[in-house]
Amino acid sequence: MATLKALKARQVLDSRGRPTVEVEAIASTGAVGRAIVPSGASTGRHEALELRDTESPRYGGLGVLKAVAQVTDAIAPAVAGMDLDDQAGVDARLIALDGTPNKSRLGANAVLGVSLAVAHAAASARGEELFVQLNRLWRAATGSSGAAIEPVLPLPMVNMISGGLHAGGNLDIQDVLIVPVGAASYSEALEMTVALYRAVGAVLRHRGFEAALVGDEGGYGPRLRQEEQAFEIVVDAMIACGFEPRRDVAIAVDVAATHFYEAAQGTYRLMASGRELDSAGMIDLLAGWIEVYPIISLEDGLAEDDWDGWAALTARFGPSIQLIGDDLFATQVSRLHQGIDRRAGNAVLIKLNQVGTLTETFDALRLARDHGFRAVVSARSGETEDTTIADLAVATAAGQIKIGSVARSERLAKYNRLLRIEEALGPDAPLARPFAR
Ligand code: PGA
Ligand code: ZN
Repeated sequence: MATLKALKARQVLDSRGRPTVEVEAIASTGAVGRAIVPSGASTGRHEALELRDTESPRYGGLGVLKAVAQVTDAIAPAVAGMDLDDQAGVDARLIALDGTPNKSRLGANAVLGVSLAVAHAAASARGEELFVQLNRLWRAATGSSGAAIEPVLPLPMVNMISGGLHAGGNLDIQDVLIVPVGAASYSEALEMTVALYRAVGAVLRHRGFEAALVGDEGGYGPRLRQEEQAFEIVVDAMIACGFEPRRDVAIAVDVAATHFYEAAQGTYRLMASGRELDSAGMIDLLAGWIEVYPIISLEDGLAEDDWDGWAALTARFGPSIQLIGDDLFATQVSRLHQGIDRRAGNAVLIKLNQVGTLTETFDALRLARDHGFRAVVSARSGETEDTTIADLAVATAAGQIKIGSVARSERLAKYNRLLRIEEALGPDAPLARPFAR
């Protein structure tokens, strides 16, 4: 049995050049596991707290030296000597040590860094790939009574055109993405995506738009006036590639509506197109898009606390359209429970740092699975070379992954990791098929 000998932590930089936490867990065997924590820009109100050095002038108050100190001073003595395979035990101790509902004492960035580094160290001590260790933990978390859960490669959901808080001053919605639903394998899905990304660039240039600048997640950031233009451009690119819209490739949208919702007035205010809508009006706008364009998935179509709107949206479009709660659920079991009870949404975005430990992430994934909610494992807009989410998506057979576009190395690191996992799983490595064709 390998135990946790020591923890090391340091401040490193993410894809936006902002400080973030890196943790190394050192096993009694000498094996080392390392993880780096990501960071969001369009964060929801219900997410776990990211501890930053707000009162320090260094890095404009965005430093994470307090979180780093929490790892070495508070957490390390509390978890030293624990069994590295006892992920649930380690995470329970982290949660107890923090003692707050949103990890605000230790910081979710400190806690998650430790939680993930421990999983990496456990895999490394066993000489196994991370997804094998995570799959073992997932089987334990879901109970061994059911059929064994085989690792499955996730279908990617990939940014093409970005707006909102991820790209300067164009669309109000955050992302127009594609899902290569017709791909037979993960590597084919990736190849189709790259062809589409190039084709979207060509269509943009042909229409006189900027195609050189990309947003935080690698999607193009042209100055469009209406969301409809973005959908048309992506459909044109599908046709240019010889793909049949909806059958081969479909559109997914991350509306990220929380970020243009004005709670005081109960108004969704879309600046680019000059629309001001109440909840019902916003649903009608989404309905218009769904009618005209090959959209199969909508994320955060309404704001994070607009529960009645979410229930109306779900009554109207579920189950034909995937309705993902990101800010709505914040990877929290308590919020996902509410969604299940109120029939709000039918899928959950899974972001490790919204909740702060691997075990709580498993809890959200298990609850989703048990209630027929689909799951999409997701990166953040601030990412690094860390590829843990690729292994997590495979190990839990989540079915879908959302990493960003096929540009910028912090994104490609994960796509490339999935290529390696595909190879490790062998020539018939299964690709998840969450959408019937
Ligand atoms: P974020 O964006 O990481 O900036 O929150 C990702 C998303 O909204 O899905
Ligand atoms: Zn989102």
